[in-house]
Amino acid sequence: PDESVVDLLNRLCATVEDYPRPGITFKDLTPVFADGKGLRVMVDELTAPFAGKFDLVAGVEARGFLLAAAAAYATGTGVITVRKKGKLPRPTLSEDYALEYGHATIEVHEDDVPPEARILLLDDVLATGGTLSAATRLMERSGAHVVGIGVVLELAGLGGRDALEGHGVHSLQRIEL
Ligand code: PRP
Ligand code: MG
Repeated sequence: PDESVVDLLNRLCATVEDYPRPGITFKDLTPVFADGKGLRVMVDELTAPFAGKFDLVAGVEARGFLLAAAAAYATGTGVITVRKKGKLPRPTLSEDYALEYGHATIEVHEDDVPPEARILLLDDVLATGGTLSAATRLMERSGAHVVGIGVVLELAGLGGRDALEGHGVHSLQRIEL
């Protein structure tokens, strides 16, 4: 029988103990991206539930870019780059979000997102949801509608799904921490 998505992720995803700090177990998706079937399955599974319902795919720097560009190409849509602060050359909207220590800022060009656009928002991992909440606010401030949020891995127990309440979150694998 065909390998399930979870089995494929378990086979290819690397687990790194004590990264980036002692006591943290890091899930490294780079081997999944490096595998032809792995990349295709991730992209197909992230877009399938939202087929026909979005006009644009937005990806969050950095790892979300890989998924968003592939998903946009596969579905004949365009891609919006949600970038870390200071990278975009023209006027931007920006949103802060909390990190474990301190905060970070992401930005989008204020005219890159067409008003009323239907956005599929993608990133690799959902943890606390801070990043994807901030990205959602950027899309909504642009006048667009986030019709779906897709992630490969959901680290359950960190409140990410609750932080994105009201938006459909589609994760390919939930990992209980
Ligand atoms: C990681 C990951 C998600 C985010 C999830 O990105 O790629 O974007 O954290 O965490 P959250 O749900 O608690 O916000 P990171 O900020 O490490 O940056 P990178 O993608 O540029 O490596
Ligand atoms: Mg990231």
